[in-house]
Amino acid sequence: MNGATELVVRGGSPLRGRLRMPGDKGMSHRALLFAAMATGSSRLTHVASGDDVQRTARALDDLGVRVRADDNSAMTINGTGVEGMYEPAGIIDCGNSGTTMRMLAGLLAGRPFRAVLSGDASLVTRPMRRVVEPLLAMGAQIEGRGDGDVAPLAIRGGHLVGVRCELSVASAQVKTAVVLAGLQATGDTVVTEPLPSRDHSERMLAALGAPVERVDATTLRVRHGAPDPFEFEVPGDASSAAFFAVAAAITPGSSIVLAEVGLNPTRIAFVDVLRRMGARIEVRETGERLGEPVGELTVEAAALTATVIEGGEVPWLIDEIPALAVAAAFAEGTTEIRDAAELRVKESDRIGTLQQELTQMGIEVVPAADGLAIRGGTPRPATLKSHGDHRIAMAAAIAGLGVEGETTVRGWRAVDSSYPEFERDLAMLRTT
Ligand code: S3P
Repeated sequence: MNGATELVVRGGSPLRGRLRMPGDKGMSHRALLFAAMATGSSRLTHVASGDDVQRTARALDDLGVRVRADDNSAMTINGTGVEGMYEPAGIIDCGNSGTTMRMLAGLLAGRPFRAVLSGDASLVTRPMRRVVEPLLAMGAQIEGRGDGDVAPLAIRGGHLVGVRCELSVASAQVKTAVVLAGLQATGDTVVTEPLPSRDHSERMLAALGAPVERVDATTLRVRHGAPDPFEFEVPGDASSAAFFAVAAAITPGSSIVLAEVGLNPTRIAFVDVLRRMGARIEVRETGERLGEPVGELTVEAAALTATVIEGGEVPWLIDEIPALAVAAAFAEGTTEIRDAAELRVKESDRIGTLQQELTQMGIEVVPAADGLAIRGGTPRPATLKSHGDHRIAMAAAIAGLGVEGETTVRGWRAVDSSYPEFERDLAMLRTT
C-alpha cells in the first residue's frame, strides 16, 4: 500500500444525507470465483472496486479465465468451468487480500497443476495452516514457509476426496476454501466450524444450484458440482457502512441513510451492538439477491454507553470491531471486547493498532490477548496511523469526524484495499 499519503479530517460537523454503499467486498470475491467456476457467461454489477477484489479478478485472469471489466464496477466473466483453467505462468500476487489467498487455495487444491500464491508484507505473515490442513486432508499438496503456515504457498492440486473436517477457527474464508475444494472432490465433504461464521458462500452457491447444503448451524455438506452462470448486482458493503454508521452515531446533529446495504444477519451484528450502546439505527429490508437480503440503515446521532462484545457474536462482527472501538471511545463507561484473538491476525494486529491509535486521542485502552477494554471519554484530535490496514485507516478517520479540530491519518491510502471511494462518499455526507 502507498503509505505516503495523508487524510486530514476536520471533525465536529454533522453527517447528513443518503449514500449508496459500494459493492460488498466479500460478496464480490465470491461472485467472481463462482462465475469463473460456472460454464457460461456471468455478469456482475456494483462490484467492489477496491484492490482486494481486483486481486481476485487478476488471479482468475492468470488462470486463463476471461474476466472483462465493462466499466469501473461491471464485469463479464466467461466461465469455462474449473476444467478450463490452466497453470499460471507466474506467481499469483494476492496483495493485501487474505480472502483472495485463502479462497483461491481451495479452488486450486482441485486443479491438476502447480500454482504459487504470495502477497504483500502483511499477507505473508498471516496464518494459512487453518486452510492448508483441511486441503491436505482432501488430497492436495501444499507447501508454505513457516512449516506450511505462511505464504508464499506452493500448491499442486489434483484429485480430491471428500472428508469430514472440523475447522480450528470460525472462518468464512477457510470454510469457503473447503467448499470450493469439496465441489471438485469425489464424495461428500462435511465441514464443521466451532461457531457459525458469515454464510455468503452457502447462500449464494445454493441459489446458483451448486450442491451445498446446511446440515445445522455450524455444519455444511458439499457434493461434487458447480454453480450455474448468473447475473448479480452486488449488495452494498455492510462493513464499510459500519464506519459511517458509527461516524453518524458519534457526531451530534447527524442523520444519514445508507442505502442498498447487504443485510445478511451474519454481517450486521454491529447494528445490535450499536443499539445496545444507545444508538438510533433503523433497518429496513427492501429486497433480496441470490439469497442475500438488502436494505437501508438509517442512523441518527445519540449519546452512547459502554457494552460488552463477546462469544458467538464476535465472528459476525469481527471486521466491524475497529468501527465499534471508535464508538466505545465516545461512549460513557468501559466497553469490553473479548473472545476476539482473531483481531491479532487481520491486516494488522488490530488489538495493538487500535490501542495505539485510540491512546493517541487520549483514550484509555487496556489490551488483552483476545480483546480490549476501552474507557470512553472525550477523545482529542491527533495525528494517527493506518498501519497499512484499511479498517484502521477508516477507524482513525471517523474518530476524527467525531471531535472538534483537525485529525490527520497517515498512510491513508491503505483504505484502497476495500473502500477507495471513502473520501468522496464522506464529502457527500457532509455537503447534503
Ligand atoms: C471474510 C471473512 C472474515 C473477514 C474478512 C472477509 C470473507 O475473515 O475478516 O475480512 O469474505 O469471508 P475470516 O473468515 O478469516 O474470519
